[in-house]
Amino acid sequence: MRDLEVTYPGGAAAVRGVDLSLAAGEKLGIAGESGCGKSTLALALLRLLPAGTRTGGRVLLDGEDVLTMKWGRVRAVRWAGASIVFQGAMHSLNAVHRVGDQIAEPILLHRKATPAGARKRTGELLEQVGLPAARAGAYPHELSGGQRQRVMIAMALACDPRLIVADEPTTALDVMIQAQILRLIEDLVSEQEVGLIMISHDLAVLADTCDRLAVMYAGRIVEEGPARQVYDDARHPYGRALSEAFPRIGDPASRFAPRGLPGDPPDPTAVPSGCAFHPRCPVALDECATEDQSLRAAGPGRRAACVHVKEGEGSGPPATNASAPDAEVRSSTP
Ligand SMILES: Nc1ncnc2c1ncn2[C@@H]1O[C@H](COP(=O)(O)OP(=O)(O)OP(=O)(O)O)[C@@H](O)[C@H]1O
Ligand code: SF4
Ligand SMILES: [Mg+2]
Repeated sequence: MRDLEVTYPGGAAAVRGVDLSLAAGEKLGIAGESGCGKSTLALALLRLLPAGTRTGGRVLLDGEDVLTMKWGRVRAVRWAGASIVFQGAMHSLNAVHRVGDQIAEPILLHRKATPAGARKRTGELLEQVGLPAARAGAYPHELSGGQRQRVMIAMALACDPRLIVADEPTTALDVMIQAQILRLIEDLVSEQEVGLIMISHDLAVLADTCDRLAVMYAGRIVEEGPARQVYDDARHPYGRALSEAFPRIGDPASRFAPRGLPGDPPDPTAVPSGCAFHPRCPVALDECATEDQSLRAAGPGRRAACVHVKEGEGSGPPATNASAPDAEVRSSTP
């Protein structure tokens, strides 16, 4: 993504200049609170935004710009070049078609497979995601939520895409099934060298699953780097607040004093001037209300957009009083 911008009809600037790269086979997590623009970003990648939405910048898939390619080419790229597991995938299946037929459809269209060939591939895909091939004959209502999610993943894999975008693929599932599905996605993308963009508000899930982690706030990436480092030692105050919102196993201090963040992300029709995070930031300076911050180097392989991050130094913002004791515990965590 190069300077990607998305403005919905009505003026909501949901994505405001996002630059992100993903290498073949790499797993990138995108985290952020509700309304930060994560799903909008995912939809923009495959040009699935509603009519009348304005986009700017570029989305380069193997060098081809998805935002300007002809519609015929877009249709060819969807499923075969990149596929998406939608947020709320459990409700994304067509209720009146058998799941096998729904998985077979992109195979028939994109692979020009024979009906028998598509049926065979559908059975293989179902088995790959841990369902018996015979479940192809089931309607969505005959499957559990976890099974439906597996069907969605089978669909996403059907045409061997180079990239899978998974938007909150496990949010509606219980923790056991969530763990199984995450492991499944992780294994499948690793085995097949498929690139993965995984979107979640759950930083811990992303830190476990992804190589790199990008934190999004008010339509921008405010921090990016190796997933574990961003989770354990965020450079941006927002990344830090998100990470501190999760109690840590083995760290009683974080369990007994979970930290939140006051307020909500801004309305995308009225994004604050300067650093958009300044009204909620515990370490804001006067200049933050007027001076915009762009991403800059914040240590090896890391970037952050905060006045406290000095170009190339790898330093971060000062700890707030509230977070200081926790910061001590966290820094001793391996
Ligand atoms: N079709 C639309 N028309 C106008 N505004 C929209 C539309 N879809 C989303 N928005 C707005 O764009 C902003 C970003 O929405 P988006 O769905 O991308 O957030 P998100 O980060 O995915 O949130 P969540 O974690 O709740 O899924 C929100 O303020 C939302 O109200
Ligand atoms: S630039 Fe200022 S307001 Fe924004 S995160 Fe950094 S300290 Fe906080
Ligand atoms: Mg979303």
